[in-house]
Order: sequence, then C-alpha cells, then structure tokens
Amino acid sequence: MARRPLDVIIDTDPGIDDACALLAALASPRLRVRAVIATGGNVPVRQAAGNVRRVLAVARPAEMPLVGLGLEPPGKGLDATCVHGPDGLAQAPVEPLDVPVREVGKVVAQVLAETEGSVSLLALAPLTTVRWMLGEVPDLRGRLEKVVVMGGATAVPGNASSVAEFNFWRDPEAAAAVIHSGLPVNLVPLDVTNRWLVTEHDLRRHLRRRTQRQRVLRHLLRYAIGTHRKLGHPTALVHDAVALTALVRPSALHWKPMQCDVEVHGVLTRGMLVSERRPNVEAHPNVSVATGGRMRTLSDVLWRLLR
Ligand code: BDR
Ligand code: CA
Repeated sequence: MARRPLDVIIDTDPGIDDACALLAALASPRLRVRAVIATGGNVPVRQAAGNVRRVLAVARPAEMPLVGLGLEPPGKGLDATCVHGPDGLAQAPVEPLDVPVREVGKVVAQVLAETEGSVSLLALAPLTTVRWMLGEVPDLRGRLEKVVVMGGATAVPGNASSVAEFNFWRDPEAAAAVIHSGLPVNLVPLDVTNRWLVTEHDLRRHLRRRTQRQRVLRHLLRYAIGTHRKLGHPTALVHDAVALTALVRPSALHWKPMQCDVEVHGVLTRGMLVSERRPNVEAHPNVSVATGGRMRTLSDVLWRLLR
C-alpha cells in the first residue's frame, strides 16, 4: 500500500543549496510541503523570503505551501553571499511568485489546524526561527514526528570557522536549544553533506532540457561550482539537498545515536558541535546523527527529484 506523504514545514535561508532542496522537496511524492518559512542566514530574512517566492515561481507546485516570514539571527552582516551571490540565488533572472508572506506564528498555527496527525520539520538555516516556534507556537512540539536539521560537523573541519558549520555558527544558542529540545532530531552534518559533489559533468548529464526549471538549476549550480572552487573545494557542495534525503530516503544515510552539544561560549570554538566519542565514557544520546551514506543512491534520488 502506498505510504501517506509526510506533511512537512521547511525552514530555509535560500541560498543555492536551499533552493535545490526546496525544488526537490516540492517534487517529491513522499512529501506534502505545507509551509516554507524564511529565516535570515545566507542572506537577510526579507531577501530570504523573496528568494522563497522566486523558488516557488520556478517550482509552480500543484499545491502551494504557505510562506512565513521568520527571524533574523542575532549579529549583523554575517551572511554567506560569497558562496551564493549577492542576492543569495546567483542573481538568477527569476521574478518572485505573487504569494502572501505572513507572520511565522500564524502560518505554523494554520498548518497545524489544517493537518491531521503529525508534521515533520526540515531545518536548513540558522535555528533562530525554529527555536522561537518551538517555544511560542502552541501544540507544535507535541505534533512533531521528525525534525531534520542540516548543521554541525562531527569529525571534519567547519566551513564558517575551522571548527563550526555555518548554520550552527550563525546562532549557536538556538542550535543548542534545538539539540537539547528532547525532540526526535535527525542531524545531517558536514561530514555527510561534504560527500555529495555536484560537477559540471552532472549538469550536462542531468539538466539537458530547455525548461525554465533546468535553466535556473544550471545557472545556480554552475555559479556554486565557481564559488566553491574559489574557496578551495574541487566542485559544488549542495548541503541542504543532502539533508532532504533524511525525509525522502532516510535509508540512504547511516544513522548513529549520539550525545551532542553546541559550544556557545568559546572565542575560537563558538558554534562548534561537540559529540561524546570517547570509548571509555557512557554516552547519553540526544540526537540521531548521519555519519555516512550510500552516496550513489542518494545522488540518484536527488537528481530524479531535481530534474
Ligand atoms: C549550510 O550553510 C548555508 O550556507 C547552506 O545553505 C547550508 O544550509 C551549510 O553549512
Ligand atoms: Ca541553508
């Protein structure tokens, strides 16, 4: 019997890899994307909301999700436009879809009122808005079945500092709050997302059509290949799309229960994900962490949804 699609709320800061994750999520028969919430991160929150509407203009989903305006993480001017371009989407020539952007609390409350049973949350941005929602939206905590978070690095270097991944580094207090929330958090760190490499060859192979969707994806990913090369990577990393597989094909990733925390005080280590890995200490796992995966399967799943 066909499984009922998961009702999902996506929190995002588009961002090229966020845009890829959104396009793939909206194309997946396993998901019903009920709301997309914009949070500041790669770009300021209002730009992120505009970018959500630009991605929706490309995706044109049959069932339009609600769009929510979330929060700006604390601190100013700490964006990732060096990777994603000055507007977050490589200045792709796409106009935003004319859909209303409403206050995040109202949007999430409406999703809960209109959804039977549980919902899942896919967090692809600094966790500022997610933390706020968990504290402020009545019933949300009790209705969450699965919380997938793209963030942190367990055994590889960070990408915002030598030890911190961007989403955790941008709001470590919020990341720590979500990690300790007691919710079923599935964490997809850089250790895994660094392993899906998108090359020029992939673009030629999977994105050959002249549709607007494929044209925009080629534009975004080609730009990302260029900026990643400048930052010393061989080709583009598409972190948030990898995190999406935790919802659409969780078995493509290997999962391990781990005891994790986030450094919120360190001068050199602020935003670092710290996990208990000592063999002689009994760990008390609080999150399930993706430690590896069948990258071939993951790549097939993602390209099928993207093209
Ligand atoms: C994360 O940081 C952002 O730049 C990406 O969109 C992704 O969510 C990767 O560290
Ligand atoms: Ca992101």
